[in-house]
Amino acid sequence: MSKDKIDPTNVEDQTNMTLTNRQGHPISDNQNIRTIGNRGPSTLENYHYIEKISHFDRERIPERVVHARGAGAHGYFEAYGTVGDEPVSTYTRAKLFQEKGKRTPVFVRFSTVVHGTYSPETLRDPRGFATKFYTEDGNWDLVGNNLKIFFIRDPLKFPDMVHAFKPDPVTNLQNPEKMFDFVSNTPEATHMITFLFSPWGIPANYRQMQGSGVNTYKWVNQNGDAVLVKYHWEPLKQGMKNLKQSEAEAIQGKNISHATQDLYEAIAKGDYPEWELCVQILSDDEHPELDFDPLDPTKLWDHERIPFRKVGKMVLDRNPDNYFAEVEQAAFGTGVLVDGLDFSDDKLLQGRTFSYSDTQRYRVGTNYLQLPINAPKSPVATNQRDGQMTLMVDKAPGQNPHVNYEPSSLGGLQEAAPSGKEHQPMYHDRLVREKISRTNDFGQAGDTYRKFEDWERDELIANLVDALKICKPVIQANMISYFEQADPDYGRRVSEGLAQAKIEMDHLGSAAAKAGAELAENAGQRTD
Ligand code: HEM
Repeated sequence: MSKDKIDPTNVEDQTNMTLTNRQGHPISDNQNIRTIGNRGPSTLENYHYIEKISHFDRERIPERVVHARGAGAHGYFEAYGTVGDEPVSTYTRAKLFQEKGKRTPVFVRFSTVVHGTYSPETLRDPRGFATKFYTEDGNWDLVGNNLKIFFIRDPLKFPDMVHAFKPDPVTNLQNPEKMFDFVSNTPEATHMITFLFSPWGIPANYRQMQGSGVNTYKWVNQNGDAVLVKYHWEPLKQGMKNLKQSEAEAIQGKNISHATQDLYEAIAKGDYPEWELCVQILSDDEHPELDFDPLDPTKLWDHERIPFRKVGKMVLDRNPDNYFAEVEQAAFGTGVLVDGLDFSDDKLLQGRTFSYSDTQRYRVGTNYLQLPINAPKSPVATNQRDGQMTLMVDKAPGQNPHVNYEPSSLGGLQEAAPSGKEHQPMYHDRLVREKISRTNDFGQAGDTYRKFEDWERDELIANLVDALKICKPVIQANMISYFEQADPDYGRRVSEGLAQAKIEMDHLGSAAAKAGAELAENAGQRTD
């Protein structure tokens, strides 16, 4: 009998609802441990108790080192069969995009980045937007953020960046001075900081925000020809909304889970959020005509010059049945691509690609890909065997179960026929440790500053001044010089804001000192 047909008032059904332990033994007393007399002591053979409590003791797995706080939902992606007004097959042979109306199941996890699993969802932070497409060719993960750019372009800097942003190792408090200490020595972060401290740093919720793959990928067609692509999710009917700092604080005072609640409730009542997937396409070369490198994730690709082309839409229409099994154990990675999609030489992307599956083998376990949320919905047949928590053997129907290696003539797995010509880029250069030549760290930060609406610029300045006012003068001076190089007005306003904040803090400080002195003097008079 299926669980949803059980009638708890029916005696026969009650048998189906009997509590058992994990060995299948019915539990007749779930209230009292076994003791010698009803005042104890307890005995060690309390199997049910020991199993129950020791499973409970292991209920938590390590939280994600970043993006720990999240919410997720299931849905589908529906292809348009075209990219803008061209057939998508011109650029990629990835099957999920080819046919108009073709649906691919998806699971999406949204997240905040810096703080832990139970932190408020109102904090100023990028938002994660990770999508798993369960395609007929296996899984594709598009692991993106709401903002279209990133703080750094070299993955070697990632652990330092995260350490500077996370709570202090001594006080366990997040400290803007540490954060800006790192940023003021990282000029390429100026553009991302400009977005983050504007209202774009606090999306109203997970439904009303954009998504972006951030990194540059490649699309590969049947002939093995490649183009560079960037992916973008544009919210459809629900629109886009960001919050002022004061609005976020008001929400946070009442609810630290407003974004999880908003997503869950919208889906539960049938108001399904939708996004359109757009790509920007560039030929696969260095593009010397641009004043930035197309492999640099700190840069936007100007959408007037490099248009957004629509390739399909995504609808999220089902809440998870269990948060831990699906959302917490979900494992996304930038290495998870399908035929027709490829990596570019974007260094950050290549660095990320090692990190995800590495952390997941530790966080979830060696066999994390056997869990239903992570397993492809297409057939899986590998010669991987064993390891902790093996749930099944990856075996093809008809495969000789003794043959767990390849090649073999005894009925083992065979290599697949190539589905198109392989993309084979040519490399001829020295092995070096150097940054890219076209860094242009401030130009686009200035463009973004000028494109903001007035209220967004006002919020940006106020938020930056608020965070920077407690920082050492050297950090303030570096940041002002970065903002000035982006746009003189930007630098001037932050500088004036900080000067004003200093006057106010000095005033408060001297008022407090004066009050303290008066108190001491009065106390002295009384004791005299
Ligand atoms: C999560 C590493 C840059 C988006 C993670 C996790 C790691 C990581 C270790 C935890 C994964 C897990 O426990 O399952 C890195 C490294 C980066 C980098 C080393 C740069 C070198 C980025 C960038 C983006 C991004 C540029 C945005 C495009 C995400 C998202 C998640 C995540 C959305 C959460 C995935 C989920 O919901 O499970 N990252 N990351 N990361 N990262 Fe990155």
